[in-house]
Amino acid sequence: MKNIFVKQENTGELAEPSLKYKESFLEAKKEFQTEGENIYMHLRIDVSDLENNFEKFIKNIKDKEEKAKLAEGFVPQSEFWLVDGNKFIGWVKIRHELNESLLKQGGHIGYAIRPSERKKGNGTRILELALNFVKQLDLSRVLVTCDDDNPGSAKIIESNGGVLENMIENEGKLKRRYWIDIN
Ligand SMILES: CC(C)(COP(=O)(O)OP(=O)(O)OC[C@H]1O[C@@H](n2cnc3c(N)ncnc32)[C@H](O)[C@@H]1OP(=O)(O)O)[C@@H](O)C(=O)NCCC(=O)NCCS
Repeated sequence: MKNIFVKQENTGELAEPSLKYKESFLEAKKEFQTEGENIYMHLRIDVSDLENNFEKFIKNIKDKEEKAKLAEGFVPQSEFWLVDGNKFIGWVKIRHELNESLLKQGGHIGYAIRPSERKKGNGTRILELALNFVKQLDLSRVLVTCDDDNPGSAKIIESNGGVLENMIENEGKLKRRYWIDIN
């Protein structure tokens, strides 16, 4: 898929994952680990694997956009990185459709900002830019969810037009389900 809205790697813009962000991406991964937040940073891959196989890692990200390359039950997903020059700031993953589990709690869009770049508006910006990309997809509205005890993420969604549909309980935690109209 062509990402027409994605700007070049200048200040705080979304970019396609690329080798040029390798060093900064690895630093960010270590930051997430130090903060005990590995769950938010490509959990299943460790730093040394990434160091040695970064090109393959990028290719795997790209492959997730193509339905033909996905395992049964998975939906196509685009991933972009918020970058400033060659600096990696955060990632956003945009699912092109929902399956049963995503409709219940995962939603269309997930994101994370590296710990050292938080509370500077980057979370709000990454969702805003992701919503621009969504305009290319055949979707009239998107579901974005967050844990009830994640006030930063709830603010990000609400500032981007999120309307709370409901809260559901999952493994003892409440999850907020918001819809955002596209256009
Ligand atoms: C949640 C997260 C994306 C916020 O990123 P961020 O860059 O700090 O977001 P912003 O700077 O745009 O902040 C948005 C608003 O939330 C507030 N905020 C951010 N973190 C907060 C926190 N921990 N507690 C309370 N408010 C918070 C900001 O002050 C800001 O408020 P304002 O609009 O009134 O100024 C970031 O903390 C993160 O990546 N967390 C781990 C992954 C995660 O939770 N992802 C979301 C899953 S749904």
